[in-house]
Amino acid sequence: MKRTEIKILLNNTPIGTELNIRGWVRNKRTSKNVAFIALNDGSTIHNAQIVVEIAIAETINFSKVTTGASITVIGTVVASQGSNQQIEVVAKSIEILGEANPDEYPLQPKKHSLEFLREIAHLRFRSNTFGAIARLRHSMIFAVHQYFTQNGFFNIHTPIITGSDAEGAGEMFQVTTLNLNQLPRNEDNSIDYSTDFFGKITNLTVSGQLEVETAMAGLSKVYTFGPTFRAENSNTSRHLAEFWMIEPEVAFNDLIDNMDLAEDFLKYLIRYALDHNMDDLLFLSDRLKEEEKSKAEELRSMELIEKLKFVLENQFARISYTEAIEILKNSNPNKKKKFQYLIEEWGADLQSEHERFLVEKHFKKPVILTDYPAHIKAFYMKQSEDGKTVRAMDVLFPQIGEIIGGSQREENYDKLKRRINELGIPEKELWWYLDTRKFGTVVHSGFGLGFERLMLFVSGMTNIRDVIPFPRTPQNADF
Ligand code: 4AD
Ligand code: MG
Repeated sequence: MKRTEIKILLNNTPIGTELNIRGWVRNKRTSKNVAFIALNDGSTIHNAQIVVEIAIAETINFSKVTTGASITVIGTVVASQGSNQQIEVVAKSIEILGEANPDEYPLQPKKHSLEFLREIAHLRFRSNTFGAIARLRHSMIFAVHQYFTQNGFFNIHTPIITGSDAEGAGEMFQVTTLNLNQLPRNEDNSIDYSTDFFGKITNLTVSGQLEVETAMAGLSKVYTFGPTFRAENSNTSRHLAEFWMIEPEVAFNDLIDNMDLAEDFLKYLIRYALDHNMDDLLFLSDRLKEEEKSKAEELRSMELIEKLKFVLENQFARISYTEAIEILKNSNPNKKKKFQYLIEEWGADLQSEHERFLVEKHFKKPVILTDYPAHIKAFYMKQSEDGKTVRAMDVLFPQIGEIIGGSQREENYDKLKRRINELGIPEKELWWYLDTRKFGTVVHSGFGLGFERLMLFVSGMTNIRDVIPFPRTPQNADF
């Protein structure tokens, strides 16, 4: 018999239907002459309840039907007598596909800590939390592509191995096939990369922006959505060494258009989750409430679904960096020296404590900060008339801080070249990037949305290691 997914079973299957379901046992309760199995196959957060009468149980080695074992059941849909579900399946036959020795299988039908689950990342897909996150993650990936498709964008695959440093931050993972124990040397003892795989120094990309800009200058509306890598040694709950980034780039858009796009895009994704993932969101909401019980009232976040709706219903605040510095300088935590980094003057880089103050305490909604000092932003941003700021924008979210970073780009060949030289970036490696400004240059803008930061917000999880299946962080590349 063909397998029916549990999601389909639970979605109005008529009483009396005979079907085959398969999955992993979450829990088994046995009473005198009947047993109940909670079965999950990942198609939904909900389990199917299987009723096994003693005569059926006796046809197999029923004691081996334990948490984690995989089974296949043929049975009939009946109205449930229990209050937890509307229907259940009365087994006619049951077969064990794969046992899971209870002395070894680490997951039990009880709450496990997120830290423990991280250590068994290969099995955590079988927990409610990670099932919900995996489904939500898929839904958000699909919504990203749907949004751009509906709006006339083209998806461009940008390279993962690159010879350039897009952000100029220098926190890259080098890619090499050279034997590290026997490096070829030049006469001056420097390493001879001519014999390396690519004949030069190469790294894993920190951003697909520079390459996607070249596609913009031909296709107008493009985006890249790929893995990006940063070797920054920041062991925080919001940083990964390997994460996924969505980077749209649009010809003829200025910074205002760019802000409009970012806000519309984020709201679309959040609305998509509310429209398509309510079962999982309700579960995640309960999880968050439970987790926050131990926190002081004033430190608790808004209920998850309420928070998602709140973002949808409110226009993001839009202010300049200069205005933000004024607000922060005069803020209570600054005056009372509560910030770890006190804001003293214009030009200071904003830390996540400042970003979160603006969003959570001052504006009480998402904020788009624009026009940052040039010296704290990347070389490619559009230089303003004032000679001090660039047309940058960061979108700041509650609990997350920066979720998007972007800008209008410098489209003037001479200005861009001057900035590259000022910063000591090797100009000859960017010849192709400069060419976009030499031939048919246009005003254009774009941004990068950190996919796992989005996932943190939508799922209400608090550690970024819990919204990607196999997190890579300093000192950790297990699985
Ligand atoms: O602000 P960032 O560094 O911007 C860029 O890379 C631009 N090239 C984007 C563009 O304009 N096309 O990174 C963009 C976003 C951040 O706002 C953040 O959400 C996420 O990427 N991000 C990280 N997410 C997880 N772990 C990290 N280590 C991250 N670094 C940045
Ligand atoms: Mg940034």
